[in-house]
Amino acid sequence: MSEPQVTIGTNRTGIQTSPQDTARQLEATRMFPADVPGDMSDYTAERERAIREADLIGSVPAPGTTKGMLKTALDKTIGKAPEVLIDKLGERLAFERTGVRLYEAMLAKATSAPGADPAVVDTLRQIQAEELEHMNIVREAIETLGGDPTAMTPCADVAGVKAMGVLQVLTDPRTTVSQSMSAILTIELEDNAAWELLIELAQKGGHPLIAKRFKHALEQEETHLATVREFIRKDLLAQVS
Ligand SMILES: [Fe+2]
Repeated sequence: MSEPQVTIGTNRTGIQTSPQDTARQLEATRMFPADVPGDMSDYTAERERAIREADLIGSVPAPGTTKGMLKTALDKTIGKAPEVLIDKLGERLAFERTGVRLYEAMLAKATSAPGADPAVVDTLRQIQAEELEHMNIVREAIETLGGDPTAMTPCADVAGVKAMGVLQVLTDPRTTVSQSMSAILTIELEDNAAWELLIELAQKGGHPLIAKRFKHALEQEETHLATVREFIRKDLLAQVS
């Protein structure tokens, strides 16, 4: 990057430059303690109570059709507790779909960065295309099992909530390429762990053909992770050299 991504400015958040205000702030916290009674253990107790009383986030819909399951002789077994696999497949579908949009936001960053590197932009486009491909692999797997790929499973819902922070970092016009790339790293780390787990789950459920297709996705995800780590490393090292 030809322009610095980190600049030096006034200390607006720390106490170092203002010992007098620090003393006054400490005095104020003594004069006006928190108006919520109790301490941390009360929060924990309250959370425990709420957890006991709460419903689950959602449920996995029963497969509407078994037609798809007959497509492949090897994968026709439904396995024990197929809803566990369907739930995780729903999560992967939501995650990969969001991934395509996250990369679109990353592309806007990389393209508008001063001294934008066309090779980096090309690689990001390629990764984005693969995330879309992964989404379709998962969609087909759900269909094969007779599930509804458009249904939001509980784990899919949780995945959407988890990605909110990453999305906010990437779509904030003020964040740098480096900051955005670190948000992408969060996604790719999870992607790798999740595909690994999904392969094991598919094998255990008696779906070797699905597991085989997922292995192809995992290999691509491993490359994504290595690529993003290298982008971050190069970008930061360029800033200090
Ligand atoms: Fe990925």
